[in-house]
Amino acid sequence: MPIERICTVAEAVKLNEYAYSFTLEVGDMSPAGPGEFVHIKCGDSLLLRRPISICSWQDGLLRIVFEVRGEGTDWLAHRKAGDQLSVLGTLGKGFQMERQDKCLLVGGGIGVPPMLGCARWTDGKSTAILGFRSADRAMLQEEFVAACANVQVATDDGSLGYHGYVDALVRETLEKEKDFTVVAACGPKPMLRNVARVAAEFGVPCQVSLEERMACGVGACLGCAVQMADGTMKHVCKDGPVFDAREVDWNV
Ligand SMILES: Cc1cc2nc3c(=O)[nH]c(=O)nc-3n(C[C@H](O)[C@H](O)[C@H](O)COP(=O)(O)OP(=O)(O)OC[C@H]3O[C@@H](n4cnc5c(N)ncnc54)[C@H](O)[C@@H]3O)c2cc1C
Ligand code: FES
Repeated sequence: MPIERICTVAEAVKLNEYAYSFTLEVGDMSPAGPGEFVHIKCGDSLLLRRPISICSWQDGLLRIVFEVRGEGTDWLAHRKAGDQLSVLGTLGKGFQMERQDKCLLVGGGIGVPPMLGCARWTDGKSTAILGFRSADRAMLQEEFVAACANVQVATDDGSLGYHGYVDALVRETLEKEKDFTVVAACGPKPMLRNVARVAAEFGVPCQVSLEERMACGVGACLGCAVQMADGTMKHVCKDGPVFDAREVDWNV
């Protein structure tokens, strides 16, 4: 049951030139697992809340990591420790994974933070593949190293780690190791489509976290409807944001 709560910002840190990490005091607001999100009111003049994935959570604290895209996230980036935020959460259906699972976690850009929640959920057996545009956008690597059996980084321009896209590393990894329970991915849709295709080739189940513009965040407005492979429409906010990759219509 989502709760609306006024939460104090316990810590506000800039991770790099683009990304901010906020730790919020949320009381008993806690997700059932990784991949859920919170809906944050970003300023008095903005009517709509902004959806941000839960990066990690523990003991009444919940961490979000975000980049500035427009007015709402810019307002958020200017908050500091001690400020208060109106937070609605936790929302959505997250990744389906068990503590003992060995998962292949794939994050692209600002899709990387929610995969840290997955890494911490799965008892250290998972592998993480993290993709960034360039080295100056990289983040959270040490925390993934602490939580995963193996971490690989790719950059589009080759300035850090593998030179290329994450799906090439997903292929390389699945060629060597066949026993992943699931491939779980969050990032831009073209990345998700390519990762889903590789996972399907190797016969490994794949879950993807989709992004769509949102209004209400609770399934009441149709704002976030997406086309599914079977012709039906689903709400990213209520039915997702995480879907089985086979459900998604990748052609729209
Ligand atoms: C389930 C979910 C989880 C998310 N998690 C995170 C996260 O952990 N960290 C993070 O930085 N961002 C995340 N986002 C994206 C974030 O919600 C948007 O960047 C934010 O709403 C933009 O608001 P704004 O007012 O700053 O920009 P706006 O002025 O509203 O938009 C700026 C630009 O971003 C585009 N845009 C806005 N919202 C979205 C969206 N949802 N998908 C694609 N394009 C969009 C607009 O079309 C416009 O071009 C998530 C989105 C969803 C749906
Ligand atoms: S945002 Fe309103 S239905 Fe999803």
